[in-house]
Amino acid sequence: MTGRGRLLAAVQGQAVDATPVWFMRQAGRVLPEYRALREKHPFLEVARTPELAAEATMMPVDRFGVDGAVLFADIMLPLDGMGIPFRIDAGIGPVIETPIRTAADVERITVLEVEEATPYVLDALRLLRTELGDRAALLGFAGAPFTVACYLVDGRPSREYPKTKALMFGAPDVWHALMTKVTDVTIRYLKGQIAAGADAVQLFDSWLGLLGPDVYSQYVFPYTQRIFSELEGLAPTIHFSTGTVQLLELIGQTGPDMVSVDWRLPLDEAWRRLPAGTGIQGNLDNSLLMAPWQAVKAGTEDILRRAAGRPGHIFNLGHGLLPQTEPDQLGRIVDLVHAWR
Ligand code: CP3
Repeated sequence: MTGRGRLLAAVQGQAVDATPVWFMRQAGRVLPEYRALREKHPFLEVARTPELAAEATMMPVDRFGVDGAVLFADIMLPLDGMGIPFRIDAGIGPVIETPIRTAADVERITVLEVEEATPYVLDALRLLRTELGDRAALLGFAGAPFTVACYLVDGRPSREYPKTKALMFGAPDVWHALMTKVTDVTIRYLKGQIAAGADAVQLFDSWLGLLGPDVYSQYVFPYTQRIFSELEGLAPTIHFSTGTVQLLELIGQTGPDMVSVDWRLPLDEAWRRLPAGTGIQGNLDNSLLMAPWQAVKAGTEDILRRAAGRPGHIFNLGHGLLPQTEPDQLGRIVDLVHAWR
């Protein structure tokens, strides 16, 4: 099988000749060639220039032979079409100049056609679809409405997102209006990516671990469910979150083809808690990669043993690569996963 064929079969629960593998945040600071590119261009310039974004996307495919090529982009890019200025500050992350806090703020958010909002993302995907051939599946992605709302309301990275939660609990009408708009944008953005050549899409709900099941059901679940239902039949979908053992059954019910889980549950136990037929992505501890190869190897083999050759597994980390990861570890993992029988 080709890398692309292998990953797309797995995400749809079909048989594969070897487990497909890619790494979240694989196109980034762990690679010296990426750091060299960033010496010449600021982050957002790389993301907004199709040729540069395509170049960064290809780096881990060329170096490690991963089966998935995740578009070099960021969950903040759709803000370009929402009329919300933002920047990415070194060592901090996304910063919103004027956070969204009131009904009037939500009212002012624009929902544009994706070709108008983020044309460069679509162009990068079109370039990559041609350049990749069948070497790897092209993965599009978006931030999930809750995680994007965390940045919009709090305005910058935070541990607890207290302003976001205050809005959710204190002004539920404003919250639901905001989530509706962000969901509309997300659906257009992901449909546009699929039309431009993304083979599958991943929805990143990175900060979902802040919520318990009742709050998730009431304030977030319906929006995530609407996204997956709108994408049904267009391309396979993967739901990502971390620290969400308490939400796993509910996440499965939002309707993705596959759920990405972190290391807080053994893979086989997580699998048992998902609806029948739902695939699973994961779940190596991203910090384990700081340990010597023997420990990484043992962790990788443990996951493969727990997957036990069931169809519907993509090997990945539980969360994105840490910047200090030694890149050679990644090549060794890819080879081990591909050789496993
Ligand atoms: O290789 C890939 O995975 C593709 C690229 C990618 C980026 N951001 C590039 C990026 C992806 C998939 C993302 C998603 C993203 N962005 C998420 C969800 C995934 C997760 O980790 O939970 C989130 C929460 C963001 C928001 C964001 N963007 C943060 C918190 C930061 C700063 C932290 C950091 O890693 O520096 C960014 C900036 C960002 N996005 C960088 C990269 C490569 C670093 C900017 C740089 O190169 O200087």
